[in-house]
Amino acid sequence: MDVGFIGLGVMGLPMALNLARSDTKIVVWNRTAARAEPLRAAGAAVAASPAEVFARARVVFLMLADGAAMDAVLGRGTPDFAANVAGRTIVHMGTTSPGYSRDLDADIRAAGGGYVEAPVSGSRQPAETGRLVAMLAGEQAAVEEVRPLLGPMCHESFVCGPAPNALVMKLSVNLFLITMVTGLTEAFHFADRHGLDRRQFLDVLDAGPMASGVSRMKAPKLMDRDFAVQAAALDVLKNNRLIAEAARERELASPLLDVCHALFGETVALGYGGSDMVAVLHAIEARTDGAGRR
Ligand SMILES: NC(=O)c1ccc[n+]([C@@H]2O[C@H](COP(=O)([O-])OP(=O)(O)OC[C@H]3O[C@@H](n4cnc5c(N)ncnc54)[C@H](OP(=O)(O)O)[C@@H]3O)[C@@H](O)[C@H]2O)c1
Repeated sequence: MDVGFIGLGVMGLPMALNLARSDTKIVVWNRTAARAEPLRAAGAAVAASPAEVFARARVVFLMLADGAAMDAVLGRGTPDFAANVAGRTIVHMGTTSPGYSRDLDADIRAAGGGYVEAPVSGSRQPAETGRLVAMLAGEQAAVEEVRPLLGPMCHESFVCGPAPNALVMKLSVNLFLITMVTGLTEAFHFADRHGLDRRQFLDVLDAGPMASGVSRMKAPKLMDRDFAVQAAALDVLKNNRLIAEAARERELASPLLDVCHALFGETVALGYGGSDMVAVLHAIEARTDGAGRR
């Protein structure tokens, strides 16, 4: 049978294209039909509805915006749900709350289906080059069925145990990313507003132990005030909220994350939700300039 892929957004389109260009026979669907055309050109079958994907595929990848989109596609809460998932393995690759995923796991298994979480670390560029990192969780047999299929999309995958451990792992990694990029941005602002040579700040950073793939990607964007999107501030705010909620649920302190949460809220309120996450610079500058006026 074909492998199914539903959700051809910023991430899903290049991921599905990498599958289509490998030896995998795939059938795809996207709410906005025009986004499936590059897949058709690459030899994939394009379904007329999600139900057609579930009818034709045993394993179905979902790369959708959020839980509401997933519920709509799965027909959750309607009689179609059991028909869609029974005898299928549903693979959740997007980012939702761990609690949502835990409930979906239970619903799918109760309806006779298999369920695997496979959230990914990496943004559009690694998606295009098949260099995403996947975290996997679910029943062992289902995970083993899905893992080899990830090859064209991901250069590494880690098995994290039962659901929702993969999403908790994804949120843990994102907690580090969000606090790291916000810290880099604040450091840049500090250097910049002291009148230091911005280029030299980057050179010093690059030469030392704090240099990383992320700093090498984000520091030049700060220097050039290049806010073209790699990971949108609005999506970072969503992830920030998911992490904060998961922390509150366990009564965990997350002091750095909470400050970032406020700053990304301010970034979006200032109108930069569609800009890259380094646009958090605007929120920090606004705090500085606001304080200066008082
Ligand atoms: N972008 C990143 O860097 C990144 C990295 C890792 C993980 N993620 C996560 O991966 C997921 C997808 O991200 P993305 O950047 O690809 O998002 P995106 O570009 O906004 O794509 C969202 C997809 O969901 C579909 N969708 C939304 N609402 C729907 C509904 N009610 N019914 C059916 N389909 C619906 C969209 O269809 P249309 O085309 O019709 O709108 C589109 O295919 C998100 O959970 C995100 O947090 C993103």
